[in-house]
Amino acid sequence: MKFFLDTANVDQIREANEMGVISGVTTNPSLIAKEGRDFNEVIKEITSIVDGPISGEVVAEDAKGMIDEGRKIAAIHKNMIVKIPMTAEGLKAVKVLSKEGVKTNVTLVFSANQALLAANAGATYVSPFLGRVDDISMDGMEIVRTIAEIFDIHGIGTKIIAASVRHPLHVIEAARAGADIATIPYKILMQMIKHPLTDQGLERFKADWNETFKK
Ligand code: E4P
Repeated sequence: MKFFLDTANVDQIREANEMGVISGVTTNPSLIAKEGRDFNEVIKEITSIVDGPISGEVVAEDAKGMIDEGRKIAAIHKNMIVKIPMTAEGLKAVKVLSKEGVKTNVTLVFSANQALLAANAGATYVSPFLGRVDDISMDGMEIVRTIAEIFDIHGIGTKIIAASVRHPLHVIEAARAGADIATIPYKILMQMIKHPLTDQGLERFKADWNETFKK
């Protein structure tokens, strides 16, 4: 399973990219707003850091507006993926853009039916939101599992991005459930790196070394 970083913060993106563990980035209007920067400026900077799929989301709500915005987003860089919300208007936009060769990521997916519809419209990626489903006391991972099973049975090539990831266990479970990618916030990437036994082991190595060689 591959990892995308779910942020518009270029310092975090640079740091994760240097570790060689991310192969793309996802943004959304909330994440861009959090940085308080111009959309085009921040997206261009991200494309200069990571050489992989970068999702930029449309904000229009009608198909025509989404298509216009989507074409502009796609023109920013060859790696751009146009993120489109899972609505009837969104599906119309995915159909047009995918016919033009523009790659799309259908976001705000909360059911296997929505994922199937997005795939049929031509979506390159679908993003089921785990955490937000868990938040309403339902099982977000079950949706990922079902989508992966259905896509597998029917040979559907649309890639599954496990999104709205809230903790490291989500990542492991998403991998087991068959997600192709997990898009993860920087904080969770850092949590995935850490293990108390790694820290303890390092302390022991240092202490043993110093005991013998630094007398
Ligand atoms: C996915 O592409 C979204 O940007 C993101 O995962 C949403 O996560 P949240 O529910 O933590 O806002």
